[in-house]
Amino acid sequence: MKIKNICCIGAGYVGGPTMAVIALKCPEIKINIVDINEKKIDQWNSKNLDKLPVFEPGLSEIISEVRDKNLFFRTDVEECIDNADMVFMAVNTPTKTEGEGKGMAADLKYIESCARTIAKVSKTDKIVVEKSTLPVRTAEKIIDILNENENVSFQVISNPEFLAEGTAIQDLFKSDRVLIGGEKSKEGEIAVNSLSEIYERWIPKNKILKLNIWSSELSKLVSNAMLAQRISSINSISSICEKTGADIDEVALAVGMDSRIGPSFLKASIGFGGSCFKKDILNLVYMLKYYNLEKEANYWEGVIDINSHQTERFSRKIIESLANYKNKTISIFGWAFKKDTNDSRESASIYLTKILLEHDIKIHIYDPMVSKQRVLDDLIQQGVNINNSLLNFFNSPDDALRSSSGVAICTEWDEFKEYDWKSLYRLMNNNPLIFDGRNILNVDKLKEYGFNIYSIGK
Ligand code: NAD
Ligand code: UGA
Repeated sequence: MKIKNICCIGAGYVGGPTMAVIALKCPEIKINIVDINEKKIDQWNSKNLDKLPVFEPGLSEIISEVRDKNLFFRTDVEECIDNADMVFMAVNTPTKTEGEGKGMAADLKYIESCARTIAKVSKTDKIVVEKSTLPVRTAEKIIDILNENENVSFQVISNPEFLAEGTAIQDLFKSDRVLIGGEKSKEGEIAVNSLSEIYERWIPKNKILKLNIWSSELSKLVSNAMLAQRISSINSISSICEKTGADIDEVALAVGMDSRIGPSFLKASIGFGGSCFKKDILNLVYMLKYYNLEKEANYWEGVIDINSHQTERFSRKIIESLANYKNKTISIFGWAFKKDTNDSRESASIYLTKILLEHDIKIHIYDPMVSKQRVLDDLIQQGVNINNSLLNFFNSPDDALRSSSGVAICTEWDEFKEYDWKSLYRLMNNNPLIFDGRNILNVDKLKEYGFNIYSIGK
């Protein structure tokens, strides 16, 4: 079946970039991206491309090419759904904050609400695509809701997204693989092939895996769990490096050169952040417990425990180092959870700031991309009193560093690497400290300038 009209529900970090790339590669398909957040849609429609709600290298160029040609950002959700022959659900699936599974299970209220709207407004048959990351067997629930509309036939397929923020566009252009999970029936296969034909415009056929729907849903969670597990593994080793004189970057290089292990995702850090790793592992742990797989659940829970432990260990290092300083002021450089994104969800900086404030340490925050409002929202969400006089924001690194006793590098922004640290030294208090939570700085040079420097796992 040739798809002519797509509606994507959810104009976020996944919906926006994914649909922009499909629009670019398939100019004959009309794509409407809808969202209940009107402000976000206005931002996507903004003439000033610096105002797009998602910052991703390469994204604004694509938006300027396809927007209002075959890609449209709209708020009339119901009409766009009804006009579509394929509907993507790319809404958020955060961890539940109340009810059964609180703090662990994925909250499916947004997905279920999409399914109810699709059921309510559809007058023609549709293929419904799970783009959001979902617990295994969610398609069952979605089908139940959709089937309340008896006049229309729906096929639900799973097509999880693997893009990483900061490299979303290149990931979408050159995906390692595309998963499409569907029902093993004639209608199921037609639906799977319709989506496959779209991807085949730029993804080699051998990279498009057609799976059963449950394998597709579960593979997404497992991929994230395994990536996060590698980071926790290397972070756990960073502790023993600090005790023994081994160097974590050398160990990672040595281990990663074994082609069976590989070099990716072995960079020791202050701890992984982002909206998905923690939430998806918690979701996996919840499901394992649901099926009484306690040992397996404990195993994966360990990945999250090590991650929190790593951020706490880093915080402790700062607190201990400042013990003999009269001026207990630290600049936090980097609020985004990684470089090249304006996203700060679950960023280690949030947890670090919370701990430091509890120890009466004065904080100067600087990030080149994350707004002050977003920082405040993150802290409020973690129960931090933002009227705390210990908390300050700066629009330039120089101003932040002025009269700081130390700086903690929390995001690996290139600009931090490229600073003229020699001149920044002069702005800081005596014996300035650097805590490099990303191991991006040249330790020998900085020591030469007079800094005391702590790097992870060194
Ligand atoms: P997001 O919060 O950036 O965007 C989701 C959007 O959906 C929001 O703008 C919200 O307003 C909108 N929405 C919610 N309910 C709606 C409804 N009923 N109707 C219309 N709009 C609605 O989330 P995201 O980061 O894009 O993630 C979306 C999903 O993709 C999640 O399941 C996530 O786990 C998964 N995922 C995310 C990434 C990533 O890098 N962010 C990568 C792969 C997969
Ligand atoms: C991650 C996955 O990489 C994507 O494949 C997936 O689609 C996405 O989650 C999702 O489902 O949301 P993302 O969170 O955007 O993507 O970014 P990553 O590059 O995976 O980084 C996650 C965190 O781990 C960041 O805080 C990063 O700094 C940290 N990290 C990464 C390390 O500390 N060390 C590493 O070696 C790699």
